[in-house]
Amino acid sequence: MLQGKCVILGVTGGIAAYKAAELLRLLVKSGAEIHVVMTRSAQEFITPLTFQALSGNPVHTELFSLIQEQEIGHISLADRADLILVAPATANLIGKVANGIADDLLTTTIMATRAKVLFAPAMNSNMWENPIYQENHAKLEDLGYHFVEPAYGELACGWQGKGKLPDPQEIFNSARALLGNNDLAGKTVLVTAGPTREEIDPVRFLSNHSSGKMGYAVACAARNRGARVVLISGPVNLHEPKGVETIQVVSAREMHEAVMKMAGQADLIIKAAAVADFRPVVRGDQKVKKGSTETTTIELQRNPDILAELGQQKGSRVLIGFAAETEELLKHAREKLASKNLDMIVANDVTQEGAGFNGDTNIVRFLSADGHVEELPQMTKAEVADLLLDRATALLPQNC
Ligand code: PMT
Repeated sequence: MLQGKCVILGVTGGIAAYKAAELLRLLVKSGAEIHVVMTRSAQEFITPLTFQALSGNPVHTELFSLIQEQEIGHISLADRADLILVAPATANLIGKVANGIADDLLTTTIMATRAKVLFAPAMNSNMWENPIYQENHAKLEDLGYHFVEPAYGELACGWQGKGKLPDPQEIFNSARALLGNNDLAGKTVLVTAGPTREEIDPVRFLSNHSSGKMGYAVACAARNRGARVVLISGPVNLHEPKGVETIQVVSAREMHEAVMKMAGQADLIIKAAAVADFRPVVRGDQKVKKGSTETTTIELQRNPDILAELGQQKGSRVLIGFAAETEELLKHAREKLASKNLDMIVANDVTQEGAGFNGDTNIVRFLSADGHVEELPQMTKAEVADLLLDRATALLPQNC
């Protein structure tokens, strides 16, 4: 499966280091050439000999080892890698890479490589939730580094929570996807994300709870698969993803204008944005005074339905919408799929725990124009995005 690919497997010092041996076995079985780099603390948990026996190659441990440098060296490791996979990746390792610290063989190799890098973090759940860790993680993701989300469960320290190293097979699948998947190379993908704001006056607006996470995950997944990605984003609190052309907008009308301007260049359009259907008829130039009345009325007028307009001029483009519903999910999603002339719609019931606005996970169903419905379990938004792109690429003309 991975014949001809070179994977550097980095192992850092966590209790889950023993699972890296099983991961290595899967990588070897797939036909990849594997070189293992261990940090000093990793060697406290498992010996290099195990990895040497499984990989059939010497294990690299020291930055300044004359013998190891002569044999292969950190620059050579960095150059020959198709993928650097770090499993388990400790908070310390992630923090170092995010902050440009290269003080051992593994961090130096990561710094020097142009290959894709995939981290499989494993740590105590409090460390995982620590804002410092999360900031480092987000920074690396924005820079184009890849992550396999840790699993929930009982941790080595006795805690229950998120932070467990995922199953080696799952990590292997992510590695394989990264090594094999450039299926959107040469394609332009237009993604919308986030809410829109409809101003009432200079200090107030109508909006919704969209964080942009779903749309940004789609944009990053498309970029990772080799696409040119144009992301049109409403106001959100997320970093602009590296390698993605991001256009910031505020209102539905601005989003409409930006989407229509770029749509002609797109092979695939995915509209994850939560666009306000209405805006105030009048926007006050000054802050509207509350006056003495107990009630007030804001008259609203319809915003352009961007997706419906794209559906009317679809051409050979693949057009995918999202449907955020609070009742009769399938019925409403089907109506939108048909009325907006879409190839597919991603339906999410935003009242369900673990689905919809703001969180890192979603629970969705993919509804296709041919009537097929694919019901999916709770997944991270990154996983939903990747699966959505699997389905979308199959719809692109060259795959017909
Ligand atoms: O951003 P997150 O916090 O990660 O949350 C993700 C999400 C819940 C916002 C996302 O999963 C989602 O469901 N997005 C669509 C939300 C929405 O506005 O749904 P809708 O059913 O109102 O709209 C249907 C489709 O028409 C959407 O693709 C929307 O982008 C599009 N639309 C809607 C109105 C409008 N005026 N123009 C549009 O293009």
